[in-house]
Amino acid sequence: MTKLSSKHLLGIKNISREDIDLIFSTADNFKAVINRPIKKVPSLRDITIANIFFENSTRTKLSFELAEKRLSADVINFSAGSSSVKKGESLVDTVNNILAMKVDMVVMRHPNPGAAMFLSERVDCSIINAGDGAHEHPTQALLDAFSLRERLGDLTGKKVLIAGDILHSRVALSNIFCLQKLGAEVAVCGPSTLIPKHIEALGVKAFLNFRQALEWCDVVNMLRIQMERQDIQYFPSLREYTMQYGLSRQLLDEVGKEDIIVMHPGPINRGVEITSDIADSEYSIILDQVENGVAVRMAILYLLAGQANSAN
Ligand code: CP
Repeated sequence: MTKLSSKHLLGIKNISREDIDLIFSTADNFKAVINRPIKKVPSLRDITIANIFFENSTRTKLSFELAEKRLSADVINFSAGSSSVKKGESLVDTVNNILAMKVDMVVMRHPNPGAAMFLSERVDCSIINAGDGAHEHPTQALLDAFSLRERLGDLTGKKVLIAGDILHSRVALSNIFCLQKLGAEVAVCGPSTLIPKHIEALGVKAFLNFRQALEWCDVVNMLRIQMERQDIQYFPSLREYTMQYGLSRQLLDEVGKEDIIVMHPGPINRGVEITSDIADSEYSIILDQVENGVAVRMAILYLLAGQANSAN
């Protein structure tokens, strides 16, 4: 297969295993490119991409911008806070005005679940979802799985635990879909108040006891508590949360996990969900995830630009 099945990347739920394999094989090539002394290729020289962010971001925004520049695309960046959205302009009007300036693709982060899908049905360009509320974060899941594949090879039968605030996490949902499509077994762990009620219907195991969950898994992906999406208190205090669900070297030693892989999508709250002696340890592939994010996003941009005029 040489083409993705859609002209957008809105989520992992609706893409195929073949799409994921194509993104990974393309990212393998771009990873080689960005490790060369000359890191730039002319692949998207005639393409203009707008990064429109309605929510804060460090990694995703910079990683997309760097991926676009490595592909020689022209790039414009839009931050909602300093735009005419503040004067009442709608999302569709905003994007149509950007497209009128001859922009070809839009990368969008938005606090509302479904915002990327909504936009893709109303404007005439490829949309890449860079995170829509607590719904999906497809490029994060793809870079996470790409990083695991680099370490473990085939993910079939590998046991991946996602721990923390599952309820408010777009990373969790996209990771569940992506890892399952790649044949991995997925479990989640956290306080019962932060685990969606029907998560097991997705074929996911749910643990409330972090120690038991760690005993089960080959890989643990630690998520932060998303305070900005919590309107009520889901656990008594951060201190108690850390005592029950924080990952530390002492806990890994007690559980006897010597070959576990530790991931985190960032941003990390050190001392809450993970201690520095693990975040910066030999177990951690956190910075590999960030490095691979550029190659994976280059692959997605390249593949979508190649089929922007297809009928999907
Ligand atoms: N992982 C992630 O999405 O990080 P940012 O919010 O900094 O983009």
